[in-house]
Amino acid sequence: MVDDSADESIAADSVTAVQTAARWLLEAEALLVGSGAGMGVDAGLGTFRGTHAGVWPPLERHGLDYADVCQPRWFEEDPAFAWAFWGHCDRLYTQTQTHGGYDLVKQWADQVKHKAGAFCLTTNIDGHWRKAGWPERALLEKHGSCRLLQCSKPCSDEAWPPADGDVPPLAEECDDRAEEARLPLCPRCGAIARPNVLMFGDSQFAVGQHQLQLARYKDWLQGMRSKSKFQRRSLKGAARRDAPERSRGPLSGLVCVEIGAGVAVATVRREFERLCGFEGARLIRVNPEHTSLPKALARSGKAVCVPLGAHEALRAIDAVLCKLRDGDKLPLRVRASTASTMAGAEEADFGRLSSAEDDFFEPDVATSKQHCK
Ligand SMILES: NC(=O)c1ccc[n+]([C@@H]2O[C@H](COP(=O)([O-])OP(=O)(O)OC[C@H]3O[C@@H](n4cnc5c(N)ncnc54)[C@H](O)[C@@H]3O)[C@@H](O)[C@H]2O)c1
Ligand SMILES: [Zn+2]
Repeated sequence: MVDDSADESIAADSVTAVQTAARWLLEAEALLVGSGAGMGVDAGLGTFRGTHAGVWPPLERHGLDYADVCQPRWFEEDPAFAWAFWGHCDRLYTQTQTHGGYDLVKQWADQVKHKAGAFCLTTNIDGHWRKAGWPERALLEKHGSCRLLQCSKPCSDEAWPPADGDVPPLAEECDDRAEEARLPLCPRCGAIARPNVLMFGDSQFAVGQHQLQLARYKDWLQGMRSKSKFQRRSLKGAARRDAPERSRGPLSGLVCVEIGAGVAVATVRREFERLCGFEGARLIRVNPEHTSLPKALARSGKAVCVPLGAHEALRAIDAVLCKLRDGDKLPLRVRASTASTMAGAEEADFGRLSSAEDDFFEPDVATSKQHCK
């Protein structure tokens, strides 16, 4: 039996959620990871809202908040001010080390059985999935990345990685202005360069990299279709013994792990809830504050929330997963929860998936007024 001793510090309802999550990961054929600002909190990064909101010190003095400073107009009106803010973000993201949760998720990704494997969808702009070694081909940074520059006009859709020294230092004895002479320029037209991040009201966001990543995500989702060929007999050990026989839908065997995605900019949450409406897909939500699940998903046992911080939750899930991989059996209460998962599974067809998917693929640039960077 799995003993709960590794989870002594975790409340009983969290233990059940952790065990359910581990069981689903054991059975996962494909993995979709999603992250929002909360994923970075245990590495020391702030969110933009809530308990862990991180503040750029000069903002208060200027009477501005994040939504005011995260606007492309600053690159026209006062690029030295704009780069003081974005330089601060860049240094913070570059200097902060990723926490161990990233490595655990990468290990889970390496262990899924379907050839489509794993994909990561993040609204974070910190480049931390890349830093942790997540493969570029399986990454969608929905709101861009601080680790790429683009032209502020822009004169093309291209984005490029900054060379050493491209991100300007602060001007001497100044915390809110970058050194004017060091501002990075577009190599094509000489205009000021800026981060390739989707800001508020951002009609200048260069979409080249974004479209490439979106196309990869779309392909990956399409690849799930061939998954119906997957056979239960290809499972090993405990997974095979306990795997329920079930009918196959286009997303059967997909486990979505959503970590630290908030409700204000709900891009990741909405996409994951949508995908989990399909037969056989499951949602593991990791969030210590925004713990709610859509009623239909919760009732049918297709979704579970682990109400802990990212690193603690991922460690706890991994500890149980390792035991399960070693052939330990699950406690009864977890078996019951897993059984109910399939009983109430919703029917859905792939046509609906494709049309709803179009919504996900379309709107971000046009509606970036609602998006916070
Ligand atoms: N590191 C980054 O790249 C970064 C930082 C801040 C914001 N953002 C982006 O800006 C947008 C809005 O950000 P926001 O801060 O308003 O996010 P938000 O407020 O929408 O969400 C933050 C979420 O993280 C959760 N959370 C807090 N501590 C956590 C922890 N230890 N582990 C897991 N989850 C935790 C909160 O409950 C909340 O749901 C999003 O696109 C976000 O990804 C990115
Ligand atoms: Zn240019």
